[in-house]
Amino acid sequence: MEKLFTKKSFLILVVGIICMFLVACGNSDSPSTNDSEEPATDETAGNGEEEAASEEGGDEKLVIGFSQVGAESEWRTANTKSIQNAITDAGHELKFSDAQQKQENQIKAIRSFITQKVDAIVFSPVVETGFETVLQEAKDAGIPIFLADRAVDVEDDSLWATFLGSDFVEEGRKAGNWLVEEMKDVEGPVNIVELQGTVGSAPANDRKEGFEEVVSADDKFKIIKSQTGDFTRAKGKEVMEAFLKSEGDNIDVLYAHNDDMAIGAIQAIEEYGLKPGEDIIIIGVDAVKGAFEAMADGKMNVTIECNPLFGPQLVDLIEAHFAGETLDKRIAVEESMYTMDQAEELLPTRQY
Ligand code: AHR
Repeated sequence: MEKLFTKKSFLILVVGIICMFLVACGNSDSPSTNDSEEPATDETAGNGEEEAASEEGGDEKLVIGFSQVGAESEWRTANTKSIQNAITDAGHELKFSDAQQKQENQIKAIRSFITQKVDAIVFSPVVETGFETVLQEAKDAGIPIFLADRAVDVEDDSLWATFLGSDFVEEGRKAGNWLVEEMKDVEGPVNIVELQGTVGSAPANDRKEGFEEVVSADDKFKIIKSQTGDFTRAKGKEVMEAFLKSEGDNIDVLYAHNDDMAIGAIQAIEEYGLKPGEDIIIIGVDAVKGAFEAMADGKMNVTIECNPLFGPQLVDLIEAHFAGETLDKRIAVEESMYTMDQAEELLPTRQY
């Protein structure tokens, strides 16, 4: 009897030990449901690459806030779609905010993304300056910023993970070089009017700089008027009307910082009674479908490409960051230039 009792106790003890062992294994091997499903928190989504690396190697579902400039141009519409689709197609959650070209709206949107504890913020700044404080707030909250399309003029480059966008200065140079070549046999003066983009924005500042750098090398080129058209067709038309009113037939060339303003200006030129593309050379930037249509109609001479379709590349970079890769601070989008004689052939293949 005593022997039987000892055997029984021994069995109970062994079963008990096995159970305790299994429970212990279960706890250490599998994280709680909350741990695995929760988006990266402040501890895992910092700007430091090691902090940002996910345990699964970067294939987790992220919550991404996207603060877009606005809907001012054909280019912007294509860019918004490309980024939105790339984020959702990759299985991430998107929180979108349209700033309607207002800096204060962007600052509010970024603060709201921080409060919502998103994992990453995609940010296309309407202007270059004045974002230090809010970028610092995102950094303090451990949320990496991915600058898309436009840069910020901020000293501390630890405030963003990377900047993916076009080289706007180079676009301005391309426009200038095309004009210099086109006008090489013309004695001059060559009177240019310039429609600038949004005041203080990177593409307006840089496209002006690049173009001026090239044309200022020959003093036959004169920029006789330069004013903002805010990157919109309506403003482009309105400002061109004013240019025509004060300068009339004196204008040889229009350099517009985007195609939408050029298209608006083309309308103004026609209404004034001149032939765009002939009486006035028209140079635009973006290479949107509308520019190809205008070129095919002989109303516009050249457009410098600014490619908005970088959504998939941007999402790859965000995922690479969360997988622990160190990203270059500046990644340029590759671009080309298209002239009137190529327009008809290329128009059907244009995606934006
Ligand atoms: O930042 C890119 C510029 O913004 C595009 O060239 C212009 O069309 C847009 O509004």
